[in-house]
Amino acid sequence: MANNGKLRFGVLGAANIARQFVAGCAPSSDVEATAVASREIGKAERFAKEVGVARALGSYEALLADPDIDAIYNPLPNSLHAEWSIRAAEAGKHVLCEKPLAMDAGEARAMFAAADRNGVVLREAYPYLAQQQTAIMRRWIADGAIGKVRLVRATFSVFFEDPANIRLIPSLGGGALYDAGSYAVSLVRIAAGVRPARVQALAQYDGNGVDRTTLASMAFSDGAMAQISCSFATAFHRSASIGGDKGVIETNYLNHPPNSGPALLQIRRSVAIGAPLEPVAVPDGNGFRLEAESFARLVRGDAQGWTGATPEESVDIAMMMDAIRASARDGGKMTEV
Ligand SMILES: NC(=O)c1ccc[n+]([C@@H]2O[C@H](COP(=O)([O-])OP(=O)(O)OC[C@H]3O[C@@H](n4cnc5c(N)ncnc54)[C@H](OP(=O)(O)O)[C@@H]3O)[C@@H](O)[C@H]2O)c1
Repeated sequence: MANNGKLRFGVLGAANIARQFVAGCAPSSDVEATAVASREIGKAERFAKEVGVARALGSYEALLADPDIDAIYNPLPNSLHAEWSIRAAEAGKHVLCEKPLAMDAGEARAMFAAADRNGVVLREAYPYLAQQQTAIMRRWIADGAIGKVRLVRATFSVFFEDPANIRLIPSLGGGALYDAGSYAVSLVRIAAGVRPARVQALAQYDGNGVDRTTLASMAFSDGAMAQISCSFATAFHRSASIGGDKGVIETNYLNHPPNSGPALLQIRRSVAIGAPLEPVAVPDGNGFRLEAESFARLVRGDAQGWTGATPEESVDIAMMMDAIRASARDGGKMTEV
């Protein structure tokens, strides 16, 4: 920790999303982005100047070796999450890694094993999980406000077509499922409380083999069911419903309301047709700041202070995405998770 008690983040790569992470953390009295590393020193220097980071470093190795960094924020392309999170853990750094945590569940398990071996904390970053919007949703489900969860539906799409975008490059872990889809899968896992037993999925691929749109149906061992959809081929839209045997919740599970629109959260506490959907006002907040401060609480030993995905949930999310990809590649074959 810094002398002022702040958790000092080092940013691995001058990524677009890292600009927003740094800006989000800037007003915090708990965390700070202290340094940024890029494969090119000039790029790191420009990033540091533009977003207000004190130090710029010309290699990722230099950042991991820096004694004045407590934790690494890893916004590298998806295919590099495992390698650099493990290297950071081995260098004794805590790691907040962008979603999706890993390319598959095997990588995810190896990442948590590396963190455990080295006595550091590793978590997957989903800013919406740090929002009050999600905390209220989770409390309603835990308190039985909608009864037993029977049907979850989550969708998230955002338009991308630039072939240079990492999201459309297969070797960097491109694809709608890894990107927007990981959010929908995480919402299903969080709302259902367990991972499904089986999935069936369909995908539409581009000429490079990257999925532009993916749909999946999931069956849980207790009879609950879920569906996710995600796409790079439509305008932005994001929503979920969690249906129980006593009511239903609707949410747009946003990362940073009101940036991409106002937060929507409502509940119907009855199975009666026409029973009112009660909207609930939720405070806005920068998801990066909330998430980073939550991570800092965890690093300081307050396990309840972390509002994001647990290691078990992150491995389950990776397993669900493994099964979805396998089923879609097999034309929709029923696949065990
Ligand atoms: N939680 C969220 O809300 C959210 C939103 C957007 C993205 N993300 C996640 O954040 C990650 C980065 O997304 P982004 O849109 O910020 O990506 P980006 O702008 O393309 O940045 C990726 C960075 O990775 C580094 N890099 C290292 N090897 C690379 C390679 N071979 N090709 C390209 N870049 C390479 C580059 O940094 P240097 O050149 O400086 O080394 C680059 O700036 C992804 O995992 C994505 O899923 C999360």
